[in-house]
This record gives sequence, C-alpha cells and structure tokens, in this order.
Amino acid sequence: MKMSDEVKRVINNNFVHLATSSKDGKPNVVPIGLCRTISDHELLIVDVHFKKTRENLEENPQVAIAVEALEELKAYQLKGEAKIFSQGELYEKAFEIMKEQDKVREKRVSVWREKRPAMAERFEKLVERHHKLRPKAVVLVDVEEIYSTMR
Ligand SMILES: Cc1cc2nc3c(=O)[nH]c(=O)nc-3n(C[C@H](O)[C@H](O)[C@H](O)COP(=O)(O)O)c2cc1C
Repeated sequence: MKMSDEVKRVINNNFVHLATSSKDGKPNVVPIGLCRTISDHELLIVDVHFKKTRENLEENPQVAIAVEALEELKAYQLKGEAKIFSQGELYEKAFEIMKEQDKVREKRVSVWREKRPAMAERFEKLVERHHKLRPKAVVLVDVEEIYSTMR
C-alpha cells in the first residue's frame, strides 16, 4: 500500500514503535530510532539490538508499527510483512541510516549542551558506544495497511 508523503515524513523524522508477535500470538513492542522509508510502500529498520524482536520475526513476519508527530497532531499505525536481510544491497543501507541518525543525535546534543549539559554528557557517552555497534541485519517491511490513529 502506498504511503503518502506526509506518512513518510512522520516516519522518517520520529521514533517508531515496532510490534511483533511469536507464532503463538505473544506480542512484543520496542522503540526504534533507525527506521526510514525506502519506497512508497517499503520501510527499512536497522537491527542492532534485537533479541525477542528477531526471534518473533523469524517465527512470524507480520508486524505493526506505531508512530506519532504530536506537535503536528499526526499519528499513524502501519501493518505489513517483514523480511530479514543480513547481507547485500539492502543490508548496506543500514550504514547510511545509522549515519543519518548520528546527525539527528548531534543536533540534539548541541541543543542540550546549552540547556541540559549533564544530559548532553550522558547522551554523548551513549552515542560513543553506539559508534562501535555493527548492524546485525535490516528488516524490510512491505506496508500493507495504514491507519491514522489521531482522533
Ligand atoms: C529510543 C530507543 C531507540 C531504539 N532504536 C533501536 C533501533 O533503531 N534498532 C535496534 O535494533 N534497537 C533499538 N532500540 C532497542 C530496542 O528498542 C530493544 O531494546 C531491543 O530490540 C531489545 O528488545 P527485544 O528483545 O524485545 O527485541 C532502541 C531503544 C530505544 C530506547
């Protein structure tokens, strides 16, 4: 299903929540910073930390994603089918997405440095740790359903 430019923009500029479930239906939901749209109907999520999420994806490819841009009063739920790639062209995109996210973090740190220096320091340490991480895989989601959750 085609995502509008607005849906894509909200996904590409906010944290999303990724819900998966085991084959017997036990749900799991995690926050995700590394998520970007790559076409009108596909998005890519970088797996650096997945545990239960990865197990679930291997058992059951159906996922739901929730995302909000509250300052714009926009919120969406998307559902789709996921595929895991641990190498190849799509996997290589993980590095680009991680670099982009670094820029988002740098901006946040520079704002905090003035207003909340202790927070900036903690965050910088976290970012340093993240620089040592290698993506384990990328998860391609083919979006099949889109709902606005703003009422
Ligand atoms: C704000 C935030 C953003 C996160 N972004 C990602 C991400 O982009 N990729 C990732 O693999 N883990 C990310 N995580 C970690 C996952 O949310 C989660 O902790 C990890 O998948 C392990 O949980 P699980 O065992 O349920 O999969 C993020 C955590 C937080 C708090």
